[in-house]
Amino acid sequence: MKRLFIALGLVLLSASLGSCGSDKPKPLMPVAHAAAPLKTTNNKSYRTPALNGPMPRNPDMTLRADFSKGAGISFSRVPVADKYIAITFDDGPQPQNTPRLLDMLRARNIKATFYMVGSNVDLYPQVVRRVVAEGHEIGSHSYSHRLFSKLGDSEVRDELTRTRDAIGRAAGVQPRTLRPPYGGMLQRQREWVNAEFGYPIILWSVDPLDWKRPGAAAVSSRILAGTTAGSIILAHDLHAQTVDAMPATLDGLLRRGFKFVTVSQLLAMKGEAPNVPATEPAPAP
Ligand code: NI
Repeated sequence: MKRLFIALGLVLLSASLGSCGSDKPKPLMPVAHAAAPLKTTNNKSYRTPALNGPMPRNPDMTLRADFSKGAGISFSRVPVADKYIAITFDDGPQPQNTPRLLDMLRARNIKATFYMVGSNVDLYPQVVRRVVAEGHEIGSHSYSHRLFSKLGDSEVRDELTRTRDAIGRAAGVQPRTLRPPYGGMLQRQREWVNAEFGYPIILWSVDPLDWKRPGAAAVSSRILAGTTAGSIILAHDLHAQTVDAMPATLDGLLRRGFKFVTVSQLLAMKGEAPNVPATEPAPAP
């Protein structure tokens, strides 16, 4: 069978070469060579370029994730006593970029928080399951990514309920925190959503503006420049460029001594350090 295909391929190749319209006699096809198995030699002297030293690894940590309901409603960072940070990825899951990011996180023993859009959860439940299986946290980022401050209460309630149910169907877990789309949510909405769903509203303190696609190097350098203890970093696994930026970003943060925890773990640390005023970021996607 395989021989038949090879023979057929050669016939077609000869036919196509023969139809180029030249009057000159054509050289004979090296039929025997084309059909012979390709011989390769092992290049034993080549090695894939290694990192500068071993790949940095996030430390193994057993941390509680049960944050206090009375800790507050809105957070853009959390005052902590040590160099703990939470990196968050919004707008996924995305079938190519999210798995690629998961590989990078796994290689470094980093747990992240994924603020997923419910409609994408319904489209790619297998990616959601992998996120959970590898120990990451999932938060709600609404069902259809509309600006909450323009929605009525019943629409907001519907967005949150549908997202919670989609995540439950896909992976058997529930979101514990909410990141409103564009960070846009009225104080009145934050209060009733927190009371009804129990979600703290999670904003961010480091924003690389990666959704504007400034290039992987810019995304990386902005995150490295902006991150301090207690930071909540905003990024988007929807964009390939953001994921391209992650190896250098994650390694750079680890080399600076930062330890990655999930948002719930970071919230659970609140009260362990003197209170630092949280800053309100400008709304952005
Ligand atoms: Ni978003």
